[in-house]
Amino acid sequence: MIAIYPGTFDPLTNGHLDLISRGSKIFDQLVIAILRNPAKNPLFSLEERIDMLREAASQFENVRVDSFEGLLVDYAQTVHASIILRGIRAISDYEYELQMALMNRKLGPQIETVFMMPAEAFSYVSSRLVKEIVQLGGSVEGLIPELVEKRLRTKVDGMTHSPRRSSSNRRPK
Ligand code: PNS
Repeated sequence: MIAIYPGTFDPLTNGHLDLISRGSKIFDQLVIAILRNPAKNPLFSLEERIDMLREAASQFENVRVDSFEGLLVDYAQTVHASIILRGIRAISDYEYELQMALMNRKLGPQIETVFMMPAEAFSYVSSRLVKEIVQLGGSVEGLIPELVEKRLRTKVDGMTHSPRRSSSNRRPK
């Protein structure tokens, strides 16, 4: 059985990785499908997110990384997936996920959405919060893979010390 695990992954967290690990044990093949949608204004480019996911998920033999645009159910058909895998952390995720699952069922009745829960330790981790914490100088130890943390810090440092910013902050001699 082929499952797709779709998302924005901006960036990948240990919560995502935990779900990938769980999914890889249940399904024959798991395709991580990154949405190609520049309108979402992601911090990391699509290529960067693909790179990070490929590296972090390389330990799972039946997992591959791809990207898609358009309707998820259409993409699912092109890779012969019968399952959409989504993670639910807390009740607050449920309403959005239920709406999406039911809409996807309406659009593609042959595709089933399966929800899994990440380990409790990751139930409060989100890409949005992780980005905010790093931007504000806090620690995200244990919440994202090390390779993601390095890239995130480099990106945030680059934004803070961009030539434009530093030259405008420079004191007149
Ligand atoms: O990580 P995210 O941002 O919660 O993932 C959302 C995603 C990519 C799963 C969702 O936006 C999606 O499937 N987009 C593709 C367009 C689509 O099929 N829309 C109708 C879904 S109800």
